[in-house]
Amino acid sequence: MTAIFFDRKDSDDVRRSRLYQGDLYAFSPRPATTALCQLGRELAEEAFAPFDPRDAQRYLSVEQYVAVLAQLKPRFIHHPRCKELIPALLAEFGCDLEQTYFDVPRLRTACAGDYLNSGLAYAFKPHRDIWYSPPLCQLNWWLPVYPIEAENGMAIHPHYWDHPLKNSSCEFNYQDWNEHGRKDAHKQVGKDTRRQSEALEPVELDPQIRVVPPEDGLFIFSAAHLHSTVPNTSDRTRLSIDFRTVHLGDLIHQHGAPNVDSNCTGTTIGDYLRGADLAHIPEEIAEMYRNALRPEPALALH
Ligand SMILES: [Fe+2]
Repeated sequence: MTAIFFDRKDSDDVRRSRLYQGDLYAFSPRPATTALCQLGRELAEEAFAPFDPRDAQRYLSVEQYVAVLAQLKPRFIHHPRCKELIPALLAEFGCDLEQTYFDVPRLRTACAGDYLNSGLAYAFKPHRDIWYSPPLCQLNWWLPVYPIEAENGMAIHPHYWDHPLKNSSCEFNYQDWNEHGRKDAHKQVGKDTRRQSEALEPVELDPQIRVVPPEDGLFIFSAAHLHSTVPNTSDRTRLSIDFRTVHLGDLIHQHGAPNVDSNCTGTTIGDYLRGADLAHIPEEIAEMYRNALRPEPALALH
C-alpha cells in the first residue's frame, strides 16, 4: 500500500518515518517553494531568451540547446541564493536545520518528444536513487517550475518498493562517477554512453503513480522508490527542480528505507550541507559511511 499525503501537517519525524515506509507527500505552493522555483524560472528565462524555456526546443538546434543548458544548469546548481532558499524551505516544512542536511539543487529539463534525451537532459529510465550511493535515509524533494501534465512529469513504480529488480548497481561507484562520468555530461549528445546504474530485466511500469503538483508545489519521496522520467508526450519541455536531504539522527541510527536490491559502492555522504550553517556531515559519521555502511540487500540477485 502506498499512501499519498496532501498538504499534511505531520511533524518532520512522522513524515520521514512514513516516507521510509514508501508513502508519498505532496504539497501546495508555499512562499519558500515559490521563491526557489522563481529563481529557476528567472535563470531559465534569461538563458533561453527570447524564447519561453518550455518552447525553446522548437527554435534551437540540439547543439544550441545543449550549449544553453551547459551554462544554465551549473549556474543554478551553484547559485548562492539556493543556499539560502533551501534552508528557508526546509524550515517552512518543519525540518530541524541542525539535523537536516541537503545537497545542491538540480534544474532538470525533460524535452517533448525525442528532441533530446541524453547527457544534460538525460531521460531517467526506471531507477532507484539508492543505486547511486546515497544513504538509505535520503529523501528526494521535487518541484515543478512551470505547470506540468501527467504526460511530462515523473512516475513512481510502487510495486518495486518491496520487490527487488535485477540491476547493475554493483558496477556503480559514486567516487568513480564523479571523477569520470558526471563531468562529461555536456559531451553526451545523442546516445548516452556513460555508465549508469540501471535495471537488467524488463520493468513492469504499471502500476505507476504520477503525482502532478501545481507549479511551485512540492513532491517528496524516498530515494529507495523506483521512479522514472515520464516520456514527454506533451508539447512542452518540463522544467523541474530537485534536491535531496538526509537527517543526521537517522544517519547515526541507520534509520531509513529498506534496501531491497542495491549493491553500489562509494557514498554521497560528503555532498550534504547542514541547513543551519552549511557545515558538512561530521567527520566521524561520514567515515562510517565511507567504510561502506550499507545493509546488504534483502534478497540476493546475483
Ligand atoms: Fe532519480
